[in-house]
Amino acid sequence: MVDLWIKDGKIVPENKLISIGISNGKISIIKKIAPKREEVIDLKGSVILPGFIDAHVHFRDPGLTYKEDFRTGTMSAANGGFTTVMDMPNTLPPTNTPVAFKEKLKIAHKKSLVDYGLHAGVGKLEDIKTTAILGPASFKIFMDQLDDDYLNKVFMEIRNIKEDKGSIKPLITLHCEDKEIVQKNTQFQRNKHILKPEIYAEARPPKAETKAVSKALQLACEYDLNIHICHISTRKSLELISKAKISNSKITCEITPHHLFLDSHFLNKCGNFAKTNPPLRNQDDKLNIRNLSSIDIIGTDHAPHTIAEKNNDIWDAPPGIPNLETTIPLLLTEINRQNITFNHLKSLLCVKPSLIFQLASKGYIKEGYDADLVVVDMKKEDIINPYNFRSKAKYSPFKGFKVKGKPVMTMVRGNVVMDEGEIYKNIGKLAC
Ligand code: DOR
Ligand code: ZN
Ligand code: ZN
Repeated sequence: MVDLWIKDGKIVPENKLISIGISNGKISIIKKIAPKREEVIDLKGSVILPGFIDAHVHFRDPGLTYKEDFRTGTMSAANGGFTTVMDMPNTLPPTNTPVAFKEKLKIAHKKSLVDYGLHAGVGKLEDIKTTAILGPASFKIFMDQLDDDYLNKVFMEIRNIKEDKGSIKPLITLHCEDKEIVQKNTQFQRNKHILKPEIYAEARPPKAETKAVSKALQLACEYDLNIHICHISTRKSLELISKAKISNSKITCEITPHHLFLDSHFLNKCGNFAKTNPPLRNQDDKLNIRNLSSIDIIGTDHAPHTIAEKNNDIWDAPPGIPNLETTIPLLLTEINRQNITFNHLKSLLCVKPSLIFQLASKGYIKEGYDADLVVVDMKKEDIINPYNFRSKAKYSPFKGFKVKGKPVMTMVRGNVVMDEGEIYKNIGKLAC
């Protein structure tokens, strides 16, 4: 018995119309023509894609909910076409103990509109094992905050868990910036007492990232663990990773829309609204759309702050850009410009994230998979206006960008959670 039919959605790149029968939140049947007299949503030929998966968001819940919470964060996700999000552990308290992890699961369950996973942090070594049992999406390591000695101990601990408990396959996600280089350069630049935002890029230079990436690649080999390198920002990092991947299949990497589309001039143009870690790079160092074919996934690194916080000076304003509602329009625009293909988009935001984070029921429009779907209007033109975000963070360095292509409907396990910008239902659950 089919609960709902989605009629006449256009799958791409095939350019064929299909109808999708949904039962119990799953895609139960795909046909050319939907039967009559059943509950139907008629897409009238609009493009339908698997729901997008964002493996990198910061929802600030608990503890920092004045910036964002699980409800507003997932409203922002639904509005941006994302059906699964994975939340980072730098909340208050940080998600680095079983108690904090369980507490965040409860919060997410109560407030989420879309499905979710939670990354765990690393605090006390003895908490790693007990947290691993709860099924975190990964253990997230901020290399800009940890010493090498502790880093080694964390890898050792996670390797031991893997050997002990065969069923647990722990993944390590890494923010790669070298602590010592960042601290030394930040101090040096701060002492100049210059408050021009461009100076921030020099406080965290490319070599801070490449040194940390090299270290992460070496640790992955040494401990034989899967690692995922978050938000790479330089060509050199991609070169190092691509070389390491030749002999090690357990390495993956990610890029954000801001590192892909913006350069360090935006620090000048947008001030602290373009401040992020790692910082935006100059044209010579930065990655661009031609590099996307060597990168596994796009993560938004949705990192909301308040405008009041961003109005501090360049050193005291917090880093981070809210991206859940800009990423898909920006990428659909690139499809319209023929710079990327639908297949590539699906790989970066559906197939590969589901593979890396082991979400067996997500990532495809196929029978048996969750009915997580997004309908996009490829002709809809818009100008990015942060005032319209569902996120609490109503700022963006992409403000004023012209885009063509927009998510117009988002469905999570057969439930419409966004229709033409209207937000419905609260049905998110732990993604699997
Ligand atoms: O820009 C960033 N913002 N980089 C990070 O690593 C953390 C994030 C945040 O939580 O605001
Ligand atoms: Zn980071
Ligand atoms: Zn982040």
